[in-house]
Amino acid sequence: MGTVFMAGSSFAQQVTIPVETQHNALVLQTDAEKNLKMVYFGVKLNNTKEYEAIQKMYNQADDSGILNSAYTPSGSANLAEPAITVTHADGNKSLNLVYVNHVVTKVDDDISLLTVTLKDPAYDFEVKLFYKTYFKEDVTEQWSVIKHGEKGIVTLNKFASANLNLKGSGFWLKQYHGNWAMEMQPEEAKLTHGIKTIDSKLGTRANLYEPSMFMVSMDKPATEDEGKVLLGALEWSGNFKIDLELDVANNLRVIAGINNAASEYHLKSGEEFTTPALVYTYSDQGKGDASRKLQSWARNHKIVDGQGSRLTLLNNWEATGFDFNEAKLAELLKDTKKLGVDLFLLDDGWFGNKYPRNDDHAGLGDWQENKQKLPNGISSLVKEAQANGVKFGIWIEPEMVNPKSELYTKHPDWVIKQPNRPEKYFRNQLELDLSNPKVQDFVFNIVDDLFTKNPDLAYIKWDCNAVIYNAYSAYLKKDQSHLYIDYVRGLYKVLERVRVKYPKVPLMLCSGGGGRVDYGALKYFTEFWPSDNTDPIERIFIQWEYSYFYPAITSSNHVTDWGKQPLKFRTDVAMMGKLGFDIVISKLSADDQAYLHGALNNYNNLKDVIWHGNQYRLQSPWDNDAASIMYVNEAKSTGVVFNYLVNNRYGTGTHVPVRLKGLDPQKKYQVKEVNLYPNAKSSLENNLILTGDFLMTVGVNPHVNSGRTSVVLQLDEVK
Ligand code: DGJ
Repeated sequence: MGTVFMAGSSFAQQVTIPVETQHNALVLQTDAEKNLKMVYFGVKLNNTKEYEAIQKMYNQADDSGILNSAYTPSGSANLAEPAITVTHADGNKSLNLVYVNHVVTKVDDDISLLTVTLKDPAYDFEVKLFYKTYFKEDVTEQWSVIKHGEKGIVTLNKFASANLNLKGSGFWLKQYHGNWAMEMQPEEAKLTHGIKTIDSKLGTRANLYEPSMFMVSMDKPATEDEGKVLLGALEWSGNFKIDLELDVANNLRVIAGINNAASEYHLKSGEEFTTPALVYTYSDQGKGDASRKLQSWARNHKIVDGQGSRLTLLNNWEATGFDFNEAKLAELLKDTKKLGVDLFLLDDGWFGNKYPRNDDHAGLGDWQENKQKLPNGISSLVKEAQANGVKFGIWIEPEMVNPKSELYTKHPDWVIKQPNRPEKYFRNQLELDLSNPKVQDFVFNIVDDLFTKNPDLAYIKWDCNAVIYNAYSAYLKKDQSHLYIDYVRGLYKVLERVRVKYPKVPLMLCSGGGGRVDYGALKYFTEFWPSDNTDPIERIFIQWEYSYFYPAITSSNHVTDWGKQPLKFRTDVAMMGKLGFDIVISKLSADDQAYLHGALNNYNNLKDVIWHGNQYRLQSPWDNDAASIMYVNEAKSTGVVFNYLVNNRYGTGTHVPVRLKGLDPQKKYQVKEVNLYPNAKSSLENNLILTGDFLMTVGVNPHVNSGRTSVVLQLDEVK
């Protein structure tokens, strides 16, 4: 920790607090009544002093006087959407919050933490606002801590993480919706007056229909390289609610946090309620720049081992489903070696004896090896993998239980279900009650036992396929409304314990596809499973949209038999992230196998650029016949450009060059096509050497057409 600086309201009539990063500023300011307001959000000013003059330049309608509150209370002057609503111990529902002081702590060269304390003058009730800024990355994480000293219980009815106020001549929201195998479907529209809400009430697998990631463009819809845009996402794996209110003064109020639906929280005197963080970044140079900021932040500060390496793998889910035994797995382990990837990942179906997991109706909860399929247990598979020179990983879904399981019979009180209603299943299963510490121990022990019994186990895929119906916890008794929140907190406690004991082991975050992709969970994971939809055409779109918020190193992309595209196309698409396979290698033709051999060599050369480099979206699949995506290393000496035909109509292709980005205009690059299918000749000129200037101004034509549907270009600086 570095220097600490404090300011109290006694020092000045009006307190102005600029929260600055490398390019941007968010400015908080008190008014004469000590209400704290957010008066600015945008590029930073040259003269810090001038932040004080901003608010006076606006003459917008605001009868309440706190429309742009930095954390809007309810029940007093405010009549807009609040950030916080409470019921005091005496039953009163009004809250007012005024500025008391603020503290800035410098954590390191990059990170600072601003804490602003607000108090209710009439009640012993306090909110601390936290702004953790990452200077270099232009990213802020914002959350709040709520506390009181009242005599008795205070009920928190609403408890947002952040309450932003944006100014602009219009606001455009880009949001996402989806379902199984249809993740990250974007929609963008101009916000009209009133409130637009993005939310989830699903409990677990909370992003199934809507994730919490969003973008807001100001003044006009931002494009890839132009315009003012905010990117935000809630770091929370449960119910969330993001309200975007275009108010009477034509400003946009963004209030984001845990969804308060069915979730009022009872807070004892002295107890702290900490909200999850809203992470956000801003760019005045378009969505591309904003996304690169978020991607760098994730690699540098959030995900596990963001600067590190990842394991390529062969998975068996698409190839075998539940139908496997030791002999089949022995073949797949040989294939893993032959293919040349690092690890074999055994998916669902390996456990349960009284209720064997032979389909998705039984076995969840009984995490013992199925004796029929695996008479020699996991440990023999780990050894067999080692004998083949590869590593071994395993799938679990530890939060869940099938009614057909020994666990369900033994611990019905550990299961989330209403005592007096028929059970309702999602994929034939129910959740375990992670608000219960005993269940937390059980879930932790599933992971811990696997690693203790198999110290060489190298990877875990953690799945979560169900949503919560009939929310009821036998453990929480009178505090039923805590369940959705305490479930997620319980989950994080387990994941924290896993990480304390196994700090770096790779974990894949999966939720029936991408049903739980958020930074609250990704803090504990190395990668995520974006979707069960691995049709490469679909994946181009899905991966394109995820990439605005998550770096390529987190995106597990597997080559499967989904879709009609040739193996080369499928592999080229999967290479834009963490490459894996889920196909039967022995069934491939000799040419396909030779192609894969070459592709894996290329991937090993390029993976560092893909995983740790800067990503540039060159041509959108939504607007072009061919999509192009590029990765460039920090030194701007190596790059790779992926190009895919996404429209099969007559005559489609790249008729004009694709303009590259992120290169050094002064440098010369050799451009060559890689990942060619055996015997295929590139239609690009031999020994093509061009300057960064040319490549970014004129571009290069990858010659994508119906005969060359997928083209990968490698760029290397020549001196
Ligand atoms: C859903 C996951 O998304 C799949 O990859 C697979 O692991 C299945 N669950 C297994 O049941």
